[in-house]
Order: sequence, then C-alpha cells, then structure tokens
Amino acid sequence: MEQRIIIQGGNVLCGRVEVSGAKNAALPIMAASLLTDGPCDITNVPDLVDIRTFSTLLQRLGVSVMGREADKLCLQAQTLSSCEAPYELVKTMRASVLVLGPLVARYGQARVSLPGGCAIGVRPIDQHLMGMRALGADIELDNGYVRARARRLRGAHIRFKAPTVTGTENLMMAAALADGRSRLYPAAREPEIVALAEVLNQMGGKVRGAGTDTIDIEGVAALQPFQYAIIPDRIEAGTFAVAAAITGGQVEVAGCRPEHLTAVVQLLRQAGAQVEAADRSLHVARQQPLRALNFATAPYPGVPTDMQAQMMALLALARGTSSIHETVFENRLMHVAELRRMGARINVRRNVATVEGEPGLCGADVMATDLRASACLVIAGLAAQGRTVISQVYHLDRGYEQIEAKLAALGAQIWRQG
Ligand code: EPZ
Repeated sequence: MEQRIIIQGGNVLCGRVEVSGAKNAALPIMAASLLTDGPCDITNVPDLVDIRTFSTLLQRLGVSVMGREADKLCLQAQTLSSCEAPYELVKTMRASVLVLGPLVARYGQARVSLPGGCAIGVRPIDQHLMGMRALGADIELDNGYVRARARRLRGAHIRFKAPTVTGTENLMMAAALADGRSRLYPAAREPEIVALAEVLNQMGGKVRGAGTDTIDIEGVAALQPFQYAIIPDRIEAGTFAVAAAITGGQVEVAGCRPEHLTAVVQLLRQAGAQVEAADRSLHVARQQPLRALNFATAPYPGVPTDMQAQMMALLALARGTSSIHETVFENRLMHVAELRRMGARINVRRNVATVEGEPGLCGADVMATDLRASACLVIAGLAAQGRTVISQVYHLDRGYEQIEAKLAALGAQIWRQG
C-alpha cells in the first residue's frame, strides 16, 4: 500500500530539533571518491533515499561502499568494473550526473544516461557537457546516453550561461585532475560548492575561489583519499524554521549554520517571526500576525529556490498580498494547486505566484509532486485546521531524514500510514 503522511493540524511547535547532514553536499562529495584509489571516510551523512541510490550507483561502478555506522560511509574506488551510470538509476536521481566529471578525469571515459526532465523542469545538462568539451573530452549522444572520452583532460576557461550547482561541481572535479589551469565563471556559490572545494583541496587538489563566482583550479596528477564531515542541511534547517513560524511556536533549530541561511532568516523576520542566530543554531519564534512580503528566488546567496514552496505555505496565512517569483526553474509552482485545495488563495502568471493571505487553511487530501513541494504541504498541514493526508510521500523521503519523528518531537500530530 502506498505510504501517506497524516497530519492533525493546529498544534504549536516547541522544543529543539537537530539538523542532519546536507544531501546536496553529500552527493558530490561521494562522487569525489572516484577521483582517488584510497579509502574515503565521510561522516554526518544523512540517511536518505537519494544517498542510498547514489551508493548503489557507485557500487555498480565498482566502488566499495561500506556504511560502518548510521551516518558514516567509507568509499573506495580501487578498480572500476563499469563506467556506466544506467538510465534506471539516473531517472530516479538526476544528481547521478555527478559521476560524469570524475569518471572521465580518472578513467578517461564515462557513459551516463541523460537524466531526462523532472517535475520542476526540463533541467538540461548542456552546461555540464559544454564544460567537459572545453576540457578536451569527446562528447557524443547515443540512445539517450552521454558517451564521454578523453585521454587526459586539459585545463580550460569554462564560461557558464548562468550559475549551475551540479554543473560547477562536475567540472570542479574534472578540472582537479586535468593538465593545467582551469577557470569556472560564473560559478555557483552555494555552501555545498565550498564544501566540495574543501574536500578536493584536502585530497591534494588546488581549488581557489569557491564561494565566489570565479573558481580557479590547477590540475594535479593524482589525488589522495579524504576524511570529511558533511555540512548541515541548510534547506532542512530553513524548513523547520518555517514550520516553527507558521505554527506560532518556539523552536531551536540546532546543529545548523545560520550564515548559510541569511536570505531565509531575513524573509522570516520580514514576515513577523523573531529569529535569533547563535553559532550553530537558530532560535525561531512568532507571536505577532504573519505579514505579507514579496521575494524572488535566485542563485546563492539569494533566496534559495529550494525554500520557495515552504515560504509560500507560510505566506498563505499572512495578512495582505504576497508575490513570489520563481526564477530558477520553469515549473516549480505545482504546490500551488495543492495549497488551493487547502483553501489558500493563490494565482500564478508566468512563474509569479500572487498569494492573498487567508486567516486559516483547511486540512485536505493532497499530493506531493516534488521534494520541496512535499515539505510545503507538511508545513501547511501543521497549521491547517483538521486533517491533511499527503500522498506520494516518497518525494519527501528523498531529502528529509525522519521528518515525522522530528516534527512529532516538537509537538506536531503527524504520522505515516501504509
Ligand atoms: C541543484 O540542482 C540542487 N540539487 C537542487 O536541489 C537545487 O534546486 C538547484 O541546484 C538550484 O539551486 C543538487 O545539488 C543535487 P542547477 P541542479 O544546475 O544542479 C539550468 C533539491 O530540492 N541548467 O543549479 O540540477 C536548470 O535547468 C534539489 O534538493 C541548464 O539550463 O540545478 C535550472 O533552470 C532540487 N543547463 C538552472 O540552470 C545545465 O546544464 C539551475 O540549475 C544545468 C542547469
């Protein structure tokens, strides 16, 4: 039977919640294990479907994957048994494309299925392929697969049409073993990029400028194994902060990095929440009525597209009219139809959602359409009057570790069925 999440809304969230490691940092760092033949130890790895899928992909390539304890992984790419990322895995997780750069850089070849679109957009990988070609790889497309070959990659200047997170990560890893210098511009600036650069430099790589729009890489002949603790998940932290604000509670979001959430903290304060940032935690409370506001998503350090849906749920209860402009993906407003079922008044025109705040939402049967849309529906369900039943919750399990247990510990009436 398909699993569903049931929420009896109306409870105020209070207490302390611990943030898990960041999925979007762990995935490229797991891919970096392909760049060396030694054992790579990664800790603070979240226990998520996407992490398990990526582990399966690495094992298919011949990487030994040992999960010693709950959040620890030891990966060793000694001998490769395949250089192919098959469609059946790539279609379930587009981040599989992150093996492309490392495989070509270390082994001279890769055959990676084109990811295909997903709910939030076409999501092409043309910038990944442009960069690999610039580094000297022969790239062919055959039967829905990318076939890439290169005897030795050569350093190059790579100019993206716009920042791409996994595109920057793929090409950082490829350039790290290329012959000569490379420059990536405009590079993505996310904290997950900085984390990957720290790993590559620990491996003996020479990566400078991560976190800015220009990354300079001097290729080296070989890279060494690494040991790394994954950074906290800023989107999970932001999601819990919004859950605290929408229920009018008081929550300490512990183990996070507030400096990775500046744009989200500013929005929450503007919406009427009190947010205090400590060294490794955020304290979120809200007593006064929620206030409407306008925002547009943008590449880091702007408002993350991965927080757009969660903020929309909050603003559905804010006094006044809010405008939300999704600028990163072309189809990341599917949660609007589901929020409408709960009584939200939202209209969409060309990727701009206009939200007329309502005094309350009503619980309803709703359907998750993508990872962050499912988080949005959980947040809306927490504040809605009555019962919300969320189907297709496998989307949620891709990016949130034990979310019901964490929310229930804060006082939410939430459980999984099926
Ligand atoms: C990463 O996806 C994240 N995934 C996404 O998180 C996140 O929403 C996204 O960055 C934007 O911040 C991982 O890190 C695993 P992009 P990515 O390349 O790298 C276009 C989640 O919820 N583009 O930065 O795939 C693209 O279509 C996920 O955890 C091209 O046109 O996103 C999009 O419009 C969802 N050609 C824009 O750039 C390319 O070759 C930004 O995409 C690559 C991207």
